[in-house]
Amino acid sequence: MDVLAIESKTHNEKLQGTAFGFEHNATQFNKFFYIESYGCAMNFADTEVVASILMQAGFGPTKNIVEAQLIFVNTCSIREKAELAVRKRLTEFRLLKQQNKKVLVGVLGCMAERLKTKFLDEEKLVDIVVGPDAYRSLPTLITDATTGRKMVNVLLSREETYADIAPVRLASNGVSAFVSIMRGCNNMCSFCVVPFTRGRERSRDYTSILAECNTLFVQGFKEITLLGQNVDSYYYTNQTNMANVTTFAQLLEMVALINPLLRVRFSTSHPKDITDDVLFTIKKYPNICNYIHLPVQSGNTRVLQLMNRNYSREWYIGKVKRIREIIPDCGLSSDIITGFCTETEADHNDTLTLMEACKFDFSYMYYYSERPGTLAEKRYTDNVTLPDKKRRLQQIIDLQGRLSHVGHRLEIGKFFEVLIESESKKSTDDWMGRNEKNQVIVFAKGQHNLTKGSYCNVKIIDAGRSTLIGEIVV
Ligand code: SAH
Ligand code: SF4
Ligand code: F3S
Repeated sequence: MDVLAIESKTHNEKLQGTAFGFEHNATQFNKFFYIESYGCAMNFADTEVVASILMQAGFGPTKNIVEAQLIFVNTCSIREKAELAVRKRLTEFRLLKQQNKKVLVGVLGCMAERLKTKFLDEEKLVDIVVGPDAYRSLPTLITDATTGRKMVNVLLSREETYADIAPVRLASNGVSAFVSIMRGCNNMCSFCVVPFTRGRERSRDYTSILAECNTLFVQGFKEITLLGQNVDSYYYTNQTNMANVTTFAQLLEMVALINPLLRVRFSTSHPKDITDDVLFTIKKYPNICNYIHLPVQSGNTRVLQLMNRNYSREWYIGKVKRIREIIPDCGLSSDIITGFCTETEADHNDTLTLMEACKFDFSYMYYYSERPGTLAEKRYTDNVTLPDKKRRLQQIIDLQGRLSHVGHRLEIGKFFEVLIESESKKSTDDWMGRNEKNQVIVFAKGQHNLTKGSYCNVKIIDAGRSTLIGEIVV
């Protein structure tokens, strides 16, 4: 029996992947593809779209790279390190290609879009280069590449949302799934390569989003994360009636109404775009999780201006206050960059004090990595030294660790509804799940007849930096 897999490297730069899989009928296919995905959840979701397109074209998924005729890597350009990880992986593929000259190696995703034909010059083993909006052309490109031609399609689109393609849930735990609601980004944060690799922002037809969420619920999924680079600017207009507009708050409500047992999450929110409407919708529906990922990037207004984030330190803190007014006890996390161009020690200190003021539950933290072609690369000098960037990063990591620990300790004695996702990594006697605030909770299975995907009530009895310890209450 063959097992299908996708390896994932998430956007917090875990550079070691995890293999996931489901079993399929080996007799169904006689040619196979192997795919690895780097970067963010959107790339992950795209890999599932790519798998669907390839399976339609008659290729079976395999996690055994040596049986694959097609090897794909879905790449990320967000930081230099992410690109280096891909380059390293490609050198490992070289050996396979030497052993079997017929194997085709394809590069997908953001790095493909950024480097275009340059990829073919720089990495001789690559046969196919395909950008994020061109996946429908994969079957044709593969056919042409088998004749020995190098194939490239990096056309960006203003319309493509892959709305009609049912993603193959490759890496699923059977409980949670990602649903892509939009593509691209119009924000032009000066440090960020995404607007160049993913193109203009466009929203997917809400009817196809609802259909996908419905199907997932019927299949037994209990949690959906609506995905976009900037979900709060979701804005779908019906082509036949332009006055018929669907906003993100309305979409959230429609998804929440599918079933009260379906948890709804979303990511990512840009602080400038999240509205009171969205906050009141979260408050209104118990199955919309009280958790917001609200990347701040820096705590200093001058740096935020250089980053082109369109809000000030005070405005961000005000937004957090508003969130907590409307949704008390809302989980909150952030992304933070240290050592952006011209950042001084005092500016960095503003980031530390903002973190204290906002008390994030957790953060994804990075040091600034200049990306070719971005506004920052063109306009500013990357003048903070690497040791300073790294030292500041360590300071925010340490502070976040302390804040998470203090926050977690405040949860001791509280009760939460937990959705069980899997057995705990450390012991098969324990379950691991999350509460609506996105906190990870580990607790003993005991004699209860629960399974993956069950909801249960848990009392928190202890707390570490990254995990809460609980016990089931009946
Ligand atoms: N669309 C999301 C995040 C996209 S990228 C948002 O706007 O919040 C994820 C995170 O990577 C960003 O929030 C930022 O913190 C980080 N990032 C992006 N470009 C970076 C760069 N050049 N160097 C370091 N970190 C970067
Ligand atoms: Fe990048 Fe900013 Fe768009 Fe996020 S909102 S993807 S950080 S440009
Ligand atoms: Fe990376 Fe592209 Fe996502 S650059 S973070 S894979 S949108």
